[in-house]
Amino acid sequence: MSLSEINPIQRINELYWGFVISRAIHVAAKLGIADHVDQQGVHVKTVAEKLSINEDRLYRLMRLLASYEIFQETDKFVFTTTAFSDAISTSTEGNFSVRNAAHMVTKSMWEAYGHLEHSVRTGEDSYTDLFGKGVFEHLDDEAEENDQFARAMHNYAELENPVIAECCPVGHLHSVVDVGGGQGGFLKEILAQHTQLNGMLFDQPLIIEQATHIEENSVLNLRFDKSGGSFFEKVPAGADAYFLKRILHDWSDEDCCKILKTVKAAMMPESKLYVIDAIVPEGNVPHFSKEIEAFLMTWGGQERDLVEFDKLCKKTGLKITSVIETPTPLSVLEIQIAN
Ligand SMILES: C[S@@+](CC[C@H](N)C(=O)[O-])C[C@H]1O[C@@H](n2cnc3c(N)ncnc32)[C@H](O)[C@@H]1O
Repeated sequence: MSLSEINPIQRINELYWGFVISRAIHVAAKLGIADHVDQQGVHVKTVAEKLSINEDRLYRLMRLLASYEIFQETDKFVFTTTAFSDAISTSTEGNFSVRNAAHMVTKSMWEAYGHLEHSVRTGEDSYTDLFGKGVFEHLDDEAEENDQFARAMHNYAELENPVIAECCPVGHLHSVVDVGGGQGGFLKEILAQHTQLNGMLFDQPLIIEQATHIEENSVLNLRFDKSGGSFFEKVPAGADAYFLKRILHDWSDEDCCKILKTVKAAMMPESKLYVIDAIVPEGNVPHFSKEIEAFLMTWGGQERDLVEFDKLCKKTGLKITSVIETPTPLSVLEIQIAN
């Protein structure tokens, strides 16, 4: 059925109430409900007891989820797993899941998105208006939320890193720095795919302390180092290539220029910078970047089209030399210092 054949009233109502199922998935993933259901069928009372939560409310939540094929109610109050509920169970060997990603939107992020109107009216981030500080400063002070966000980013990264790393032309280089590299998942993938490379993970000091994924791998460990600091001040100098993956879309144009200038100051004349972000397509086509952008506006961030990336580069003395598509919604922009 094409969109024009759908009743507009029904369509708007369904879209409007979309946040209900979104938050229901979030709660199910956060509580780990799927871990206590199996293929044979488990009574909701058993699940509630295992999780020490309210049986009646759990039943109603699972009944909603089952209407989207996330669980199936096979007998009254008895639920079995489905392929979709498996996707939000805890990852085990042979069962990769998005459980951590499916509860990324922390309490403050949810509140900030609820305050989207402020961003649209003023162009400001909702976080500062609500909490008196930006999203990353807020997360720094909220250990549980910070941890929840870091685990979600790592989960997304596990999904996308191998294929994005394959698209980065670093086969002839010797040293790379992943700026804002989080827990090091992307750098680990790049180093694993290119055995001649040495890598430096750079992020905020608190995040760097928690980044142990590469250190657990003794082979890669020999070619890996890490450093804590702020990309608004200084990043490690003299590498052949720098990555900024999923960074610029968190920030305003003004902040992006500051980040790009810091990275440029660390680059050698022949160094490459790989900005890995979504490039918003022209026109009315649906694209994941357009959904994420509304959410990011409440952080003061935004997605960008190619013209906007080009403007940022020109303002900071950089130039885009190529654009590489990946099998994900993200692209790789290859950038160099402009002469
Ligand atoms: C959206 S995450 C992206 C993480 C990773 N690059 C990825 O693709 O999974 C943004 C990262 O920027 C880091 N970050 C935020 N502010 C920073 C700063 N001032 N200096 C360095 N890193 C910062 C955060 O700690 C976080 O790891």
